[in-house]
Amino acid sequence: MTNTSAEVSKLINQIKLLSPSASSLLEVTSREDHDLDEVVSIIKNDANLTAKVLKIVNSAAYGLRSEITAIDRAVGFTGETSLISIAMNEAAGMLYQKELTGYEGQKGDLWAHNLLTALAAKKIVPHAIKPVNGDVAFTCGLLHDIGKSILSDFLENTSAKVIQALDEKKVTSYENAESTILGIDHCETGFKLAEHWNLPEPIPSAIRYHHNPSAAPKEHRGLVYAVHLGDMLSMLAGSGTGADTLRYQLDPNYTDYIDLSEDDLAIIMVVIGDEFTKMQESMQDDQ
Ligand SMILES: [Fe+2]
Ligand SMILES: [Fe+2]
Repeated sequence: MTNTSAEVSKLINQIKLLSPSASSLLEVTSREDHDLDEVVSIIKNDANLTAKVLKIVNSAAYGLRSEITAIDRAVGFTGETSLISIAMNEAAGMLYQKELTGYEGQKGDLWAHNLLTALAAKKIVPHAIKPVNGDVAFTCGLLHDIGKSILSDFLENTSAKVIQALDEKKVTSYENAESTILGIDHCETGFKLAEHWNLPEPIPSAIRYHHNPSAAPKEHRGLVYAVHLGDMLSMLAGSGTGADTLRYQLDPNYTDYIDLSEDDLAIIMVVIGDEFTKMQESMQDDQ
């Protein structure tokens, strides 16, 4: 282990654990056979989260005519993916909202990029050749680049050199440059954080292999390809995290796992743009 890699691990161990409600929500929603009642009871047991969800569902972005005061009804309107977003933003907002100086990224970029990737991954899932769970793909998208919030501090003043190395083809991808400089990349950093948070599979694997989906455990590969493609779409749609945007390789073997036509892609781009705006607006109303 290089010095930096050891320092990164040390830092991860100091990061506070997710709230019990956020942990349970990720745990329950990643199980194929869960029902909505389980989700509702997790929210109900967290007064702060209940208040947030009610505020968001009653925000202008949802455009409902009458006020919703019961959490079970609210959950019906928001859907599980919105709940996961709200809970994760509450539990790990400090990481998501950090200014990514090491990537020349702005405050809020990491949240926006992860959210758009999550929405894209979920929309790609129906095109997966073998069935993949859409809500799990959403969660994995929402977490895929979380490692950057930790690695960013170690990468200050490196982006110009990395871009040059990429242009001169000395490295092929931004995460390879991270490994060369620090001995660890943002995928592995995010994976270690997922382990620290005790997140259930397939979340840690999706984070770890999102730039290298062919290396993911076979049973999770379709899901990881959905996140991989969602990440690419989100960057193509203009949502990145700074200097590294679009400086990654698309794995062309995605066609073995996902069947997407150009028309499908165009539709997905439009739909995720709309969903993203609604979600951002509803959550901003809350701040
Ligand atoms: Fe990434
Ligand atoms: Fe990404």
